[in-house]
Amino acid sequence: MLRLAVCVSGGGTNLQALIDAIEAGVINNVRIVRVISSRHDAAALERAAKAGIETRVVFRGDYSGKDSFEEALKEALDEAEPDLIVLAGYLTVIPASVVDAYRNRIINIHPALIPSFCGKGCYGLKVHEEALKRGVKVTGATVHFVDEGCDSGPIIMQKAVAVQDDDTPETLQKRVMEEAEWVILPKTVGLIAENRVEVHGDRVRILS
Ligand code: GRF
Repeated sequence: MLRLAVCVSGGGTNLQALIDAIEAGVINNVRIVRVISSRHDAAALERAAKAGIETRVVFRGDYSGKDSFEEALKEALDEAEPDLIVLAGYLTVIPASVVDAYRNRIINIHPALIPSFCGKGCYGLKVHEEALKRGVKVTGATVHFVDEGCDSGPIIMQKAVAVQDDDTPETLQKRVMEEAEWVILPKTVGLIAENRVEVHGDRVRILS
């Protein structure tokens, strides 16, 4: 059984995609043991509670310093004894100590085809605004391992989504979620549960 800790900050639709895939038996031998939110008011917390998943809030504003916040986050993760940590719309930088302790056991979903439209400050709607501004015809989503950099870890899976002439950042965001994010995130978790994901330096091989 692959024990997942899922970190969230917002709506939690990617968390929901995981819950649904587990409940529907699309992915097997996976259990979400804890959802950790960076905000007290994240709607994702309601989704977790509805699915009977234990939740914790580790909000930066509740801590006097960076160190005590990072310690609390590490403790909330460690306590859950996860095999894999999933960043599903988590808007806080993971401390280096956590990255190091969970090397190649933290994955993130990014709403673009990395290395396009990623890096510091490029998250949420901004990603889609930038894609439209640049006039790309194809965008998509990426699931990657998390390293010390920003969106720089080994890429596990990507899915392309066509940009339409009348797209706005909002319509593009919605289509990227529906057609790519909610598909490749559960799929990646399923492959990891089956021990089919191997990391070789910057490259990831999916075993058939
Ligand atoms: C998604 O677009 C995800 O790729 C990005 O933040 C958004 C989170 O959405 N990192 P949700 O909270 O899963 O609904």
